[in-house]
Amino acid sequence: MKIKNICCIGAGYVGGPTMAVIAQKCPDIKVTVVDINTDRIAAWNDENVENIPIYEPGLSDVVAEARGRNLFFSTNVEKAIDEAEMIFISVNTPTKTYGIGKGMAADLKYIELSARQIASVAKSDKIIIEKSTLPVRTAEAIKNILDNSGNGVNFQILSNPEFLAEGTAVENLLNPDRVLIGGEQTEEGEKAVQALVNIYARWIPEDRLLTTNVWSSELSKLTANAFLAQRISSINAMSELCEMTEADVDEVARAIGSDSRIGPKFLKASVGFGGSCFQKDILNLIYIAQSYGLQEVADYWEQVIIMNNHQRNRFSRNIVQTLFNTVSGKKIAFLGWAFKKETNDTRESAAIYVADNLIDEQADIVVYDPKVKSEQMYADLDYLNSRDENINREKLTVVNDPYSACKDAHAIAILTEWDEFKDYDWQRIYDGMMKPAFVFDGRNILDKEKLEEIGFDYYCIGK
Ligand code: NAD
Ligand code: UGA
Repeated sequence: MKIKNICCIGAGYVGGPTMAVIAQKCPDIKVTVVDINTDRIAAWNDENVENIPIYEPGLSDVVAEARGRNLFFSTNVEKAIDEAEMIFISVNTPTKTYGIGKGMAADLKYIELSARQIASVAKSDKIIIEKSTLPVRTAEAIKNILDNSGNGVNFQILSNPEFLAEGTAVENLLNPDRVLIGGEQTEEGEKAVQALVNIYARWIPEDRLLTTNVWSSELSKLTANAFLAQRISSINAMSELCEMTEADVDEVARAIGSDSRIGPKFLKASVGFGGSCFQKDILNLIYIAQSYGLQEVADYWEQVIIMNNHQRNRFSRNIVQTLFNTVSGKKIAFLGWAFKKETNDTRESAAIYVADNLIDEQADIVVYDPKVKSEQMYADLDYLNSRDENINREKLTVVNDPYSACKDAHAIAILTEWDEFKDYDWQRIYDGMMKPAFVFDGRNILDKEKLEEIGFDYYCIGK
């Protein structure tokens, strides 16, 4: 089947960059990304390509090349569905906040709405692609909705989970370790898989295009995230032991990472993993295991989350204890709010939890982050905690310069590993601070010796 029109429902962190790269690599295919969020679509269409709603290195260049040629952003969901032979569903699948499975299961309402909309609009056969991360066997529910539309249209459902990491999205999309495509093992299913393989094969070597059955593909995505998060919780568990024993967690990570069976990546101890997916996907995995009665499997994966919560909380506790058991009325400077460097995404960032803990202790927090806007920080805090919103605004201030953030502070907490933090004039920062001047490096990025020489009391994870 020759694909001429692609539609993607959801213009978020995945839909936007993924479709921009497909459009760049397939100039003969019209790619339309649709969303119900009119502000988001307006930002994708902003004349100044630097104002697109997602900050990712290299993304604005890709969008600039393809937008208006064969890449379009629109709120007209029905038209795009109608025109397309292939539809990616890339809507959000957050943790449920109500009802059965509250706090654990994935909320599939946006997925179901998308499926129903496709069912009501489609007049010709279509390949539907699950790009969102979904519980295993979701394709069955989607198929059920689509096959009951009564309009005689044939739908093939593929699972094609996305493995990009934020901050490196474009690089990951251009040169992925693998692309996973799960399809039905029928003649029609195999044809649909081949149609998608043909698209990716335009720029990705065929040996990196893995095909499986639908259920393996759906479950592999949750498994990949669970394994990645587990490595971080494992090294973070060791970081606490290192602090007790004078072992150095970076040295331990290097020592074990040199074993080719373990490998060096994803062994950086930190204040805890954040991001929109690790916690949500593991909670979902735990919920799925429980719903099949597999309590030991569920308990095993739950430890990854327990360890991550512990790491964030003990970081906050260490700040309070080190500052003579009280931070009430003390200024604490936060460098970084995003959940990792090179992104303006703050979802589940450790910074939100640490700020929340310190506001409970009546600290005055002043934040500088190179990419995150103040409204986002307040929205994050308001969402996390039911305290009076005015208190969040009173106790947390946002500035756009790191030196004023640190001026008169009792302590600095490094919450994101932005490279620029390493290059600051740390003598100048020290001179402007209250003494003793403390740095709590939640990312282990600063030079301990240099900071101690200046006069800082320097604490970092796992040392
Ligand atoms: P997002 O919240 O940034 O974007 C989702 C978009 O879908 C929103 O803009 C929302 O308005 C839109 N939407 C929801 N329902 C809609 C509907 N019925 N019609 C049209 N638009 C609709 O989410 P995201 O980060 O892009 O994640 C999407 C999926 O991809 C999730 O399942 C996530 O787990 C998965 N994923 C995310 C990442 C990541 O790095 N963010 C990586 C891999 C996989
Ligand atoms: C992660 C996965 O890496 C992607 O493969 C996956 O597609 C994505 O989730 C998803 O499904 O959403 P992402 O969350 O964007 O990507 O970023 P990561 O680089 O994985 O970092 C996640 C968190 O772990 C960050 O807070 C990061 O600082 C932290 N981290 C990462 C560590 O603390 N230590 C490490 O060694 C690595």
